[in-house]
Formats: sequence, C-alpha cells, structure tokens
Amino acid sequence: MLGVTLVLKLVVFAWVINSCTSVSVEGNSYVREACSVTRYQDLCVHSLASFSTTAKQNPSIWARAGVSVTISETKSVAQYLMKVKSQSSMRGRNQMALNDCIECFQDAIDNLHQSLGVLRKLNDPSFYAQLWDVTTWLSAAMTDQDTCLDGFDGRKGKDVKLLLAKVSNVTCITSNALALVNKLATTGPESLNSP
Ligand SMILES: *[C@@H]1O[C@H](CO)[C@@H](O)[C@H](O)[C@H]1NC(C)=O
Repeated sequence: MLGVTLVLKLVVFAWVINSCTSVSVEGNSYVREACSVTRYQDLCVHSLASFSTTAKQNPSIWARAGVSVTISETKSVAQYLMKVKSQSSMRGRNQMALNDCIECFQDAIDNLHQSLGVLRKLNDPSFYAQLWDVTTWLSAAMTDQDTCLDGFDGRKGKDVKLLLAKVSNVTCITSNALALVNKLATTGPESLNSP
C-alpha cells in the first residue's frame, strides 16, 4: 500500500513544472532508456550520460546518479546566487527575493543531501519506507526552488531573467531525479540485487 501511495505522490510531483528548455543531445542506449521515464529527457541525457557505463540498467544507481547531479547543480546555482548578491546589483524587492532565494537553496541542499544519504543505504526490508523519505526530501527541495521562483514573480530585468532560467533548470533536474526514484520504486526492492 505504501508502495502505491508513494508512486502516486511521485507522479504528481515530477510533472508539475513544465517550462524547461534544453539542448538536444545524443546519448547511448542505457542513458536514453533510463531517462525515458523523465519529463525533461534531453536535459536528463545531457546531465547523466557519464553514468551510463556504471549504471547500465540498474534503477537504484540511476536514482542515486540523478540525486547526485541535482546536488551539484543546486550547489552551482547557489554559488551563482551568492555571486549576484556580492555584486549588489539587485535592489529593493529583487534584493529581498534574492536573499530569500539563497535561504531556500541552502534548505534545498540540505534536503537533497538527506535524500542521497538514504539512497546510499537502501535495504530490502525498509525499501518503501526509505523511498518515502527520499521523495519527501526531494519534493521539499522542489518546493524550495519553487519558493525562490515565486519571490521573483512579476519582476523584470535581464539579471532576473537569467536567474530564473538557472533556477527553473535546476527544478527540472530535480523533477528528473524524482522520476528516476519513481522508477526505482516501481521496480521494487528486487532491483537492489541486480548487477
Ligand atoms: C541547465 O543544466 C544543464 C545541465 O547541467 C546545463 O548544461 C545548462 O547550461 C543549464 N542551463 C541553464 C540555463 O542554466
């Protein structure tokens, strides 16, 4: 029962965002197959291609790879946000939104680290409960990113546009990670024993 509820929860979260652009990329069949469950497939293939040789068809490795990449991307956007802050180019409401956004990203990074920690310790008897926690933290990370976007709602300017593009991008990467966790959940704990 927990398994079914979990899958529903994942489906809802993985499909909420829909404004991602991505370059079209070639990928070998393993990464293409793994990414076929994600919403932003080109972005998925582009960001995860290097894991193909180790992950092959193992959904638990793909899920971990998805979350690892999400962590690096979130950190890189967080650094970008800090840079923008240090340049003091944003004023007034934009500056407030930026400060809130930085806090949200710190929280997102914490949530993502929690997820990865559990994914590294997956075991058969606790499988669904563990994945429940993983998706709770991943969803929380997506909410953090969304909260950042909301802060800039209706704001204009080239610097705001670039910031929003970077944050939306990382939201799409997080959504992809959720889809990979969803795939792991539907495959079940047997997948932990696959090569
Ligand atoms: C989105 O993320 C991908 C994968 O890391 C990156 O290559 C791309 O430059 C990013 N796009 C933006 C707008 O930041």
